[in-house]
Amino acid sequence: MAFGRSERSEDRFLSARCLPGESLLAFGANYGCSRRAGIFSVGARYIVPLGVIYIAIMPTPDLGLDKTLAALGLSEAAQVVARFADVRARFDAESGAVHDESSWKQFRDAWLGRKSGVLTQITDNWLKPATPELKRAVGQQLNELRAHVESQIEARRLAIESGAEENALTRDRVDLSLPGVIRPVGSHHLIRQVFQEIEDIFFSIGFSVVEGPEIETPYYNFEALNIPEFHPVRDDMDTFYIDLPKGSPTPLLLRTHTSPMQIRTMEKQKPPVRVIVPGKVYRRDNPDATHSFAFHQIEGLAVDTDITFCDFTGTIEYFVKQFFGPSVKTRFRPSYFPFTEPSVEFDVSCPFCGGTGTSNGATCSKCKGAAWIELFGAGMVDPAVYGFVNYDAKKVSGFAFGIGIDRLAMLKYGIGDIQVFFQNDVRFLRQFP
Ligand code: PHE
Repeated sequence: MAFGRSERSEDRFLSARCLPGESLLAFGANYGCSRRAGIFSVGARYIVPLGVIYIAIMPTPDLGLDKTLAALGLSEAAQVVARFADVRARFDAESGAVHDESSWKQFRDAWLGRKSGVLTQITDNWLKPATPELKRAVGQQLNELRAHVESQIEARRLAIESGAEENALTRDRVDLSLPGVIRPVGSHHLIRQVFQEIEDIFFSIGFSVVEGPEIETPYYNFEALNIPEFHPVRDDMDTFYIDLPKGSPTPLLLRTHTSPMQIRTMEKQKPPVRVIVPGKVYRRDNPDATHSFAFHQIEGLAVDTDITFCDFTGTIEYFVKQFFGPSVKTRFRPSYFPFTEPSVEFDVSCPFCGGTGTSNGATCSKCKGAAWIELFGAGMVDPAVYGFVNYDAKKVSGFAFGIGIDRLAMLKYGIGDIQVFFQNDVRFLRQFP
């Protein structure tokens, strides 16, 4: 298989290493340039799927650099001049094929290398053993050749350097017509958006946001909230205890509600207190459409010297109307929490059927015909709690509430399954940009 010389890019790779006039042949064997007068010792090697093919170079007529002039039969000055012209022609041809830094280095070493460069070979084999009659001519020719070789090699270097710069400039040029790189920007998770919405509402009436640990001690999660060990409400809040090394000072558990932050806040801060606490909470619930072992709450706590039940209902109503719209109605039902007294469950009239229980002639799917939707637990802070945080129960009063965020988000955005909040399915997440 024979290749003609062409300007195809793969051939340029070869031509940098081979002399003009040489034909390029592909064989299954390695015929390198290495045998030729020590000029190049590189054969071009191509890896192809079938194996390695070596591109071999047919040698051109030998310049006889490794022989003396006498051995070459050159005894007259004119012959010497002609031979030097051949050498120069070869140099010029090779020089034209040098296009990059690495081939330039090979080229330079092949001609100027101290040990076996062409000029060294000519000095050692042609000049030194030359007969006295020829010595002058050889010396002169060699000097001219050296001057030519050195200046051309330097010129090639400059040309390659400036060419490389130009290439770099072309490469780095910014093409403003190209389409931009589009980096998709994510969005907040719907739960985070609902947190934000609720935080904004409470911000607007003077609450600030605090956050607390998800791993709690039983003291904060239970005892200081007036839930002693063996109190039956602990059964409802069975949760995950952390495996700790024996002898650890206190058990640790994943908090079952955000209420521990009531205690931590009041421990740190004297009244007035107005905080909300968004966060994750955990319970040992089996997953189904409305239960998950991890979910989200926002705790609220307001304590001051003269906070009444009216402040409490007014605040809650304000929040609900902001969140669901001004037409919702609210109601309280008595309930029980060890850390509030009185305790209430707070309901809103179903915002989807306008509190009628029916929608388009059918039972409302959101409130299941009940007309009311149970929203969250709340109450006036039980005076017993103040005892745990060194507040004077005779002087202060306040209210607290704990809103389940997942439930609120499901209601407001018509989501039927709490699990979608935790599955990270982008088809769901993208619906709430
Ligand atoms: N922590 C209670 C719960 O998770 C809710 C609550 C908070 C009730 C604050 C009253 C006051 O069920």
